[in-house]
Amino acid sequence: MLPDIKGLVDRATDEIASCSSREQLEAIRIKYVGKKGELTALLRSMGELAAEDRPKFGQAVNVAKDDIEGRLAVKSDAIVLAEREKQFISQAVDITLPGRVRKIGNLHPITKGFEEICDIFVRMGFSVVEGPEVETDFYNFTALNTPPFHPARDVQDTFYITDNILLRTHTSPQQARQMEKQDPPVKVVVPGRVYRRDQVDATHSPVFHQLEGLYVDKGVTFAHLKGALEAFIKAFYGEDKRVRFRPHYFPFTEPSAEMDVSCFACGGKGCRICKGEGWIEILGSGMVHPNVLSTAGYDPEVYSGFAFGMGIDRIVSLKYGVDDLRLYFENDVRFLEAF
Ligand code: PHE
Repeated sequence: MLPDIKGLVDRATDEIASCSSREQLEAIRIKYVGKKGELTALLRSMGELAAEDRPKFGQAVNVAKDDIEGRLAVKSDAIVLAEREKQFISQAVDITLPGRVRKIGNLHPITKGFEEICDIFVRMGFSVVEGPEVETDFYNFTALNTPPFHPARDVQDTFYITDNILLRTHTSPQQARQMEKQDPPVKVVVPGRVYRRDQVDATHSPVFHQLEGLYVDKGVTFAHLKGALEAFIKAFYGEDKRVRFRPHYFPFTEPSAEMDVSCFACGGKGCRICKGEGWIEILGSGMVHPNVLSTAGYDPEVYSGFAFGMGIDRIVSLKYGVDDLRLYFENDVRFLEAF
């Protein structure tokens, strides 16, 4: 009776098939084809067989050994492949995930407005300068032909820090500072924050923004003033806009005028936005008062100039249709991102 080689191969085949790790597979290899394995033991027992059975038996054992080793090799490859696949899956990068959006900020609409407006004046030859927000009484009023007794001081409700130091109520003090600082010609715009005691509502804020303009040279006339400001309005709001000048009073300009722009909504016919006027007031302006020139050390007999001051919050609001000033200060990102 020959030992059951086929049964041994079947057992090995089953075990290999159900094995799932390198370690198990190695154990199976040792168990069947290792030095002390079952097949090796069979070969050793060959001596017990009848001489004529030996060659056939030896051949059968070798075939079984090749068979088992072949299966072991195939399984080993399969295990390596499965392990690699598992590793790939566990380390996989999910390329379908949306990327992390890097939040980059954007300019505040007022800052953007300042930049656009300054750009237009720079193209007309103006330089951009800035001045202090904490001012002295002298520059905010006296140097601008508004001495202490002057009634025009009462029109603006000023934040005083001491009797002599205050938060500037307009950007005009930089007119005087600039003229003291340099010889004529002077041609500057002054963007900045200004302060007046006001109750906060849709159209008022104690903190707001102005852009001052000053051009002083020999022979500057009111025609230059009108030309520069009309060019600015058309560049900023569009060629279809018209402007008009109305006589007004400022202590530091003479003559003075307010400038209106034809209404954005109705084009001048009169509507709810312009309160039926057809025009919207946009800035104050005038020819620099001789007293302002001489206080700054310029000879008013030789030099003349124009100045203007515009409220940036209002000018930007009109351009973008913002109907409540408070939006500029509330820092709601949905509002800020809209520009
Ligand atoms: N400073 C004035 C204001 O705040 C505006 C102005 C500036 C008027 C320059 C004339 C010249 O109302």
